[in-house]
Amino acid sequence: MALFTKDSIERVREAVDMVELVSAKTDLRRAGSRWVGLCPFHDERTPSFSVNPEDKLYYCFGCQKGGDAIGFLQEVEGLDFQEAIETLAERYNVRLEREDEDPEADRKRRERDRLLGLLDRTARFYASYLETSGEAAKARAYLAERGFSEETLREFRVGYSPSAWDRVLTGAQRDGYSPQELLDAGLAQRNQQGSLYDRFRGRIMFPLADLRGRVLGFGARAMAEGRGPKYLNSSESRIYRKGRQLFGIDVARSHATKSGRIVVVEGYTDVLAMHQAGIRETVAIMGTALTEDQVVELAKVAKHVILALDADRAGQEAMLRAARLAKDRDLELGAVEMPEGADPAEVLQKGGPDAMNGLLERARGMIEFQVHRVLADAELDTPAGRDRALESARRLIADVPKSSALRQELVRTVADRLDLPPDLVIAQVPHRSEPARVARSPGQIALGPEEAFLASCLASGEVGMATLEGASADVFSSQLMRKAREHLVTSFHDPLAGLQDGDPELGRLVAGVVAKADTQQPASEASLRLSFLQLEQRRIDRELRRAGEAADRSMQDRLAAARQDVRREMDAVMGQMA
Ligand code: CTP
Ligand code: MN
Repeated sequence: MALFTKDSIERVREAVDMVELVSAKTDLRRAGSRWVGLCPFHDERTPSFSVNPEDKLYYCFGCQKGGDAIGFLQEVEGLDFQEAIETLAERYNVRLEREDEDPEADRKRRERDRLLGLLDRTARFYASYLETSGEAAKARAYLAERGFSEETLREFRVGYSPSAWDRVLTGAQRDGYSPQELLDAGLAQRNQQGSLYDRFRGRIMFPLADLRGRVLGFGARAMAEGRGPKYLNSSESRIYRKGRQLFGIDVARSHATKSGRIVVVEGYTDVLAMHQAGIRETVAIMGTALTEDQVVELAKVAKHVILALDADRAGQEAMLRAARLAKDRDLELGAVEMPEGADPAEVLQKGGPDAMNGLLERARGMIEFQVHRVLADAELDTPAGRDRALESARRLIADVPKSSALRQELVRTVADRLDLPPDLVIAQVPHRSEPARVARSPGQIALGPEEAFLASCLASGEVGMATLEGASADVFSSQLMRKAREHLVTSFHDPLAGLQDGDPELGRLVAGVVAKADTQQPASEASLRLSFLQLEQRRIDRELRRAGEAADRSMQDRLAAARQDVRREMDAVMGQMA
C-alpha cells in the first residue's frame, strides 16, 4: 500500500488536540503549561503522566513512556503506524494524501472500503433489528436469560438477522450496493436457480471486527436446536478469514494494553460474559486452534497471554500449538485449568466474577501447565503408565532453564506425584542447551525504573548528585544496581572514565545510563524526589510480599504504614510540581 505523504502526516500531527486525545483515556488536570493525570499505560495511584499541549507530546515519569499523538494511539490502542494516522486523520478531519499509488491498488482499496461500508451498515441493521423488532423478542429474552445486559449487547453490536430471505439483500441494494458486492461481503449466496438470498436468517448475529473496530464478517448463532449448524460464519473471503481474527479485539485492546495481559477464550458468549464481569481484556479464537496470525495480533496488544480454553482435547491441542508459537516471540504464555466441561461463560454464571478471577490468578506458565496435565492424565497404578508420564514430563522440563526455581519445583512435583525419588527425575531430564532467551529474573525486571532514575539524576547536575547520595541502597532491587549507584556517586562528573575493565556488566549498565542521561533535560528537585519515592514504594512492595509469604503480621503493619507515608509525600510533591 502506498505510503501517506510526509506533508499529510505533518498536517495530522498539527491538527491533533493532544489534551482531548489523551483525556479519552485518562482524566487530565492543568498544571502550569502542562496537563497531568494517571498514566494510561500502567497502574498507579498518584499521577506521573504529563502532556505538553504545545509540542503535542506526552511523557510518564513512572514508566518512562513518551511520544507524540501517533505513538500514543499506537501504544494505547495497539495500532500500527498507518492505522494510527488514519484514525487521527478521520478524527481531526485531515485529508490524507498518498504517495503516488498505482491505479490498480487504488481501485482495490476503494472496492474494499465499499465492502467494509456494507458490512458496517449491515451490522447496524442487525443490531437495531435485535433491539426493536417483534421477531427478535425471543432472542432478546434468550440473551437476557443468559444474563447479558443491553449495554454489553450494544457494546459488541450483537444483532439479529430477520428470518425473511431477502431483507439485507433488498435493503443494501436500495442503499446502492450491487448484488456482486453482497456476495463479496459474504452476506448473500446463490440458490440452485442462481438467484440470491440472505446468508444469515433468524440467527443471533455477532459481528467480528478488526483491531480498529471495522466489521469484517459475522458469526451467527441459531436460536433453536436442529435447524442447521449451531454457529454459521461468514464464508472465507478476501475480507473475512476466521483464523486470522480475534473476536472482541476492538473492545479489549485498550484494556489489554493497559493491564499488559490478554485473556483468550473459545467463544463469542464467553467474551460477552467476561467483559460483563469486568474482565475486559478478553478475546475469543472462535473455537479454532490458535493460529500464528492470531498470536501476532495478541502480541500487538499485550505481552502476557492467558489461555482459558476448554479442558477437552481440542482446547488442549490449541494450547500446545500456542506454546510453540509463543516461544519465538517475546510472549509470556499462561493457561488456566478450566473445570471439565465448563466454559468461562458457565463459570461466570455459576460462580460470578470471583470464580473466574480465582482461576485466572491460578494460571500457570505453559510448561508448568502441561506438566500438570501430564500428571493429571497419567495412569499412576501401573509402572508402565508412570514411565510414560515421566518420559513426557521430563521432555517438558528440559525446556526450563537449568538453574531456575521453576525447574526445581517441577521436578519435586513430578517426583511426588509419580512417587519417585527426585534424583531419578533429575537424572532423567535430558541436557539441552540453554534457550537463547533465558527467563528474566525479578531483579532484571525492576531494572527499567531504577535505571531511569539513575539517568535522571545524572542529567540534573548538583540536585541530581544530592538525590543520588541521599538515595538509600535498599531501594535498588539488585546488587548490580546498587553498584551502579555507588559508582555514579563517586564518579558523577565523568562516569565512563571511572569504569574498571573488570566488570563488564556494570560497564554496560553505566554506559546505558549515561547515554540515556545525555538525551534528557535536567529534572527538577521535586521530580527527582518523586522518582525516588516511586522506587521507595516498590521497595516496600517487595518487602510486603516477603512479609506476606512469611506471614509476619507486625512487619506487614509496619510496612503498610511506611507505604502510607510514602504515598502522602508523593501527593505533596505532586502538589509542588503542579
Ligand atoms: N464455533 C464456530 N462454528 C461452529 C461451532 C463453534 O465458529 N460451528 C465457534 C464460535 O465462535 C463459538 C465457539 O466456537 O462461540 C465455541 O463453540 P461452543 O462452545 O459450541 O459455543 P459457545 O460459544 O459456548 O456458545 P453458547 O455458549 O451460546 O453455547
Ligand atoms: Mn457456552
